[in-house]
Amino acid sequence: MRAWVCTALTGEDSLAFQEQPAPDCGPGQVLVRTRCVALNFPDVLITRGKYQFKLEPPFVPGSELAGDVLAVGEGVTDVAVGDRVLAMTGFGAFTEEALVAPPLQQVMRIPERMSYEDAAAFNMTYGTAMHALHQRGRLQHGESVLVLGAAGGCGSAAVQIAKAMGATVIAGASTAEKCALARDFGADEVINYRESDLRDAVMALTDNKGVDVVFDPVGDDLFKPALRCVGWNGRYLVIGFAGGEIPQVGINYTILKSLSIVGVAYGVSAINDPAMNAGNFEQLFAWYEQGLLRPHIGRTFPCEGLPDALRDMHAGNALGKTVVQF
Ligand SMILES: NC(=O)c1ccc[n+]([C@@H]2O[C@H](COP(=O)([O-])OP(=O)(O)OC[C@H]3O[C@@H](n4cnc5c(N)ncnc54)[C@H](OP(=O)(O)O)[C@@H]3O)[C@@H](O)[C@H]2O)c1
Repeated sequence: MRAWVCTALTGEDSLAFQEQPAPDCGPGQVLVRTRCVALNFPDVLITRGKYQFKLEPPFVPGSELAGDVLAVGEGVTDVAVGDRVLAMTGFGAFTEEALVAPPLQQVMRIPERMSYEDAAAFNMTYGTAMHALHQRGRLQHGESVLVLGAAGGCGSAAVQIAKAMGATVIAGASTAEKCALARDFGADEVINYRESDLRDAVMALTDNKGVDVVFDPVGDDLFKPALRCVGWNGRYLVIGFAGGEIPQVGINYTILKSLSIVGVAYGVSAINDPAMNAGNFEQLFAWYEQGLLRPHIGRTFPCEGLPDALRDMHAGNALGKTVVQF
């Protein structure tokens, strides 16, 4: 079997599709025949040695996949050989046969009508957005949410989940095409934050009250104007810094509006509290089957195109999710 191996921390150019020994399925582990993988921004970072955990080459990157269970190790009871599954691996997914080792990595059965493409594109972004809005943001029916980077992976999931939770969604994105996509995902209002002043636009849409929750996967120069969009008792969800710079904030700002700046660490939270994650996915799969969630797969690449797919994401060109078929 073959795998994409990162041979140096120089990004996608260092990836080589190499023959590897077939993995042995040990106790508690699940071996999955990969059908599709989906890309995430951490895949771009990890191949450059810039992610929060660092791996020494050679290693196989890849944070999520969908496929069929080929074998299960002793003690595995929640999935069986032949099941269609999705898996969140952190690394190790860009391979024809992936070994998934719970509890640090997760594997779960997918609904019958969910395609492998949708399943591969589902775990990281919908899992993150659900945990952020539900457990960390305590979003309530009837509240308002501002989603930044609303046409990206996490952003597009957040728009759809917030709508499913009964919130009013204001989506922000940087181009007309991305704004149109965000509207298509169900956003009630859209703001092109590279063409208009974000704070003025949000205040105009909320009777000067601001929003209850901000969902921010971008950071950088958007942080300051977005923080000023939060209303009384609001929650600012720190998801990531795809824009580059990690913003700084004066802590005094939190007492001006009784607001909370809330960190979201989906991967570790799912490991620490598997029951919470399982409950979230039960709801997410139910919404998917009701047609309320629709992963937007901007581009699909063949297996050989995986480095091109990562290059495209690094350039900020990805719309929704990028899927690679194995
Ligand atoms: N905290 C957690 O648990 C968690 C979980 C998953 C991901 N994350 C983090 O969340 C962030 C977003 O992940 P994602 O998968 O949603 O990424 P994505 O699909 O690439 O979307 C990121 C969005 O950020 C904006 N952006 C601004 N400058 C950019 C640049 N230089 N390069 C790329 N995008 C840029 C783009 O929106 P506009 O062009 O519209 O501004 C883009 O659509 C990443 O930093 C990731 O590490 C965190």
